[in-house]
Amino acid sequence: MKTYSTGTLSNKYYLEKELCNNGYKGVVYLAHNAEGQKMAIKTVASYLANTPYSLSEEQKIHYQLDHKYIIKCLDYMPESILTKEYIGEKSVMYLTTEFAENGDLLGLIQKISKDSKKIGMNFKIIKTWFSQIVSALSYIHEQGFCHRDIKLDNLLLSSDYLIKIADFGCSIAMNANETGKNGLCSVKGTENYMAPEIWENDYTKEKKIYDGGKIDVFSLGVALFSMVFNGHPFNKAIPRDQFYRLILVNNWEEYWKIFIEKIKMITEREEAGEWELLKDLIEKMLTKDSEKRIELKDILNHKWMNGDVYKDEEMAKVIENLLKERVSEE
Ligand SMILES: Nc1ncnc2c1ncn2[C@@H]1O[C@H](COP(=O)(O)OP(=O)(O)OP(=O)(O)O)[C@@H](O)[C@H]1O
Ligand SMILES: [Mg+2]
Repeated sequence: MKTYSTGTLSNKYYLEKELCNNGYKGVVYLAHNAEGQKMAIKTVASYLANTPYSLSEEQKIHYQLDHKYIIKCLDYMPESILTKEYIGEKSVMYLTTEFAENGDLLGLIQKISKDSKKIGMNFKIIKTWFSQIVSALSYIHEQGFCHRDIKLDNLLLSSDYLIKIADFGCSIAMNANETGKNGLCSVKGTENYMAPEIWENDYTKEKKIYDGGKIDVFSLGVALFSMVFNGHPFNKAIPRDQFYRLILVNNWEEYWKIFIEKIKMITEREEAGEWELLKDLIEKMLTKDSEKRIELKDILNHKWMNGDVYKDEEMAKVIENLLKERVSEE
């Protein structure tokens, strides 16, 4: 039995280390139970119970989801005592999920790419992960929810390097009535991934309703771009943004010139024509007008998605080899 820990939670879980510390918003720990089973535990101070940081809505949605590429929700407790070495006792709520051994996609891409001048992974790896994400996100939408915070840091990786979507902290039912409106309208998500229609509600008093499915497609488009380029497509999807303003007026030709050096590296490496197809998909996902933006169900039929992907059981070897290669290049 494994018991060494730096703290305990309700005398039920043993805390090993912090995986992520978001200050007052909460801390995610790697922990294990008395049987030695590893897990991740998200803790939030009890006094935040009636704030947006509370885990009560997040767990309600997360508990309903059961999919191969979504991290499993294991346990939720609205009131509990966290005991930490040197700090003492603290009253917290917590959410326990299965542990993703290989961390998040952001961390892995940074490990593979080393510096931002390099581009990360080949298209076959990206396509494999992207297909897994689309499959899980389609399932989430079919269950009637939108995720609202798709980003590389919320896309975790299991021990065999398969995608596990996590963090349902911004998620909501597609047909919810936010602030008395007949639909979704609140400004939620992560700044560089948020769709332009969400930002529009940041400036105006009169909040417009947006489509939960379409905002997830936009964020997924940003995530796809980031996987390919090892960097963001723009800072924020707002008119003041020097990069996004080109997309706003549909001037993709000028926009892609910004990334000309990296595109050269990509086209030297990938099969001819692949980049043109991927570029078309990214443009369709990042389109400003949500009515014209590609729908999730149509992404799988896009021509770029036709090519080969790795089988689930091949991924561990593929990524381990890539990591070895990068270490030996140094
Ligand atoms: N089950 C898990 N397995 C491994 N790592 C995890 C797990 N859950 C969370 N993490 C790590 O902790 C980070 C934060 O977790 P999570 O996104 O759930 O919390 P959060 O407070 O909503 O964070 P943020 O507001 O930054 O999105 C993740 O990006 C990931 O690196
Ligand atoms: Mg998160």
